[in-house]
Amino acid sequence: MRKPLVVGNWKMHGNTAENVALLEGLLSAELGTSDVAVCPPSIYVAQVAEKLKGSAIGWGVQNISAVEKGAYTGEISAPMAKDLGSKYAIIGHSERRTLFGEVDKDVADKFVAAQQAGLTPIACVGENLAEREAGETLTVVGRQLGAILAALSAGQVDGFVIAYEPVWAIGTGKTATPEQAQEVHKFIRDQLAALSAELAENIQILYGGSVKADNAEALFANPDIDGGLVGGASLLVDQFVAICRAAG
Ligand code: G3H
Repeated sequence: MRKPLVVGNWKMHGNTAENVALLEGLLSAELGTSDVAVCPPSIYVAQVAEKLKGSAIGWGVQNISAVEKGAYTGEISAPMAKDLGSKYAIIGHSERRTLFGEVDKDVADKFVAAQQAGLTPIACVGENLAEREAGETLTVVGRQLGAILAALSAGQVDGFVIAYEPVWAIGTGKTATPEQAQEVHKFIRDQLAALSAELAENIQILYGGSVKADNAEALFANPDIDGGLVGGASLLVDQFVAICRAAG
């Protein structure tokens, strides 16, 4: 049975004092039984690690370089993230794809780099509004997912997470309906099952896109939605705690 997972993607928000307040709020809350992690901006990973070490809350990074080391000014590597105790690395977030030009091959390369460093990649897929309106949702998600699955080493049955994030629902307040989300999650799980039934059974598939305290329960009630990748609401203690509790 898959354990629910809720990951807070802080994006480019926070500062030292705000992070302390947020983390102390989470540490003193009853978060329920799901796995919980936060992904701060990489410059704050050391601060977050210091605050969360020994707790049940994990942490990760929002992006990594596909290469291990070298003259890549401004980049951080997967081994660096691992060195600071990160469990997760978000890979291929739509903001990386649309604002920073990442293509499926970049995402696949980063996916491999994360796994090689012992991180659990949270690989993001999702269609934009034009693609949804053109009826291309499953084609787009299938293409993005295919690039990731092609990078899997043979026999891989766990060690990664997929996040379905419809781009039109990110930061817009427009959430996919539970039915819309479940349809795509089921499609993703079927693609995993085509590789291996064990893989499909084990892999957590998260929904992301305007998850809030008041819609989390209905989303997470679906059989193929194993939790959430939460942006804006992860910056608010009460919201994030309620979302974690809704997951399990
Ligand atoms: O990574 C998180 C997603 O982009 C969702 O962001 O909850 O602010 O819509 P949001």
